[in-house]
Amino acid sequence: MTFDRSIKIAPSILSADFANFGQEIEAVEAQGADWIHVDVMDGHFVPNLTFGPPLCAAIRKHIKTVMDVHLMIAPVDPYIDAFAEAGADVLTAHLEAGPHIHRTLQAIRGAGCKAGLALNPGTGIEDVEYLLDMVDLICVMTVNPGFGGQKFIHSQVDKVKKLRAMIGDRPIHIEIDGGITPETAPLMAAAGADVLVAGSAVFKGGSVQNPAPYGENIRAIKASIA
Ligand code: DX5
Ligand code: ZN
Repeated sequence: MTFDRSIKIAPSILSADFANFGQEIEAVEAQGADWIHVDVMDGHFVPNLTFGPPLCAAIRKHIKTVMDVHLMIAPVDPYIDAFAEAGADVLTAHLEAGPHIHRTLQAIRGAGCKAGLALNPGTGIEDVEYLLDMVDLICVMTVNPGFGGQKFIHSQVDKVKKLRAMIGDRPIHIEIDGGITPETAPLMAAAGADVLVAGSAVFKGGSVQNPAPYGENIRAIKASIA
């Protein structure tokens, strides 16, 4: 994985057909997805359940781009090696998931993954300062994590601007997750984000049998920024 700040669209497979992940991933990559975002939920840190390392390992062979795994789980540390072995390129843990996020980020890099740090909408950026040398990506949640299709929380635009200034020249991606559409994407691109997760806005109207809407949806988000 090389670092650059170009805009990347990362479709969340939370909005794909759960019975058909392999083909959904191949279809959305063929239609222009830059990364594939994988939402792992434990029914404890967030009020929803999705999937774990075996599913990640199974879909890995269908991903040609970047496997971006968002862990909405607590605790995180006991599962890091399993997700790394499943092939995660980026492994993102929440700042709110436990008292030892510094150790968690060290362990993620130690397992050979890029380390991501996610912030809930109610979390400020003060606690990020002493983690900046530990992270390759900061994920600003623009919805409360747990579900796709929620409404974008506008207060997070200001947070991203402040975070961008704090990051300076460091090679750290700013990822936005939740409620990204052609209306909200330009706000975040202007604020300094480079990875835009989009679930419902990418997968709407399409299917494995009819994947063209995936491409139209991805291009509509990119065109809203250009
Ligand atoms: C929310 C997830 C998101 C979600 C985004 O907990 O982390 O990745 O799938 O879905 P949309 O784009 O529909 O808000
Ligand atoms: Zn996510």
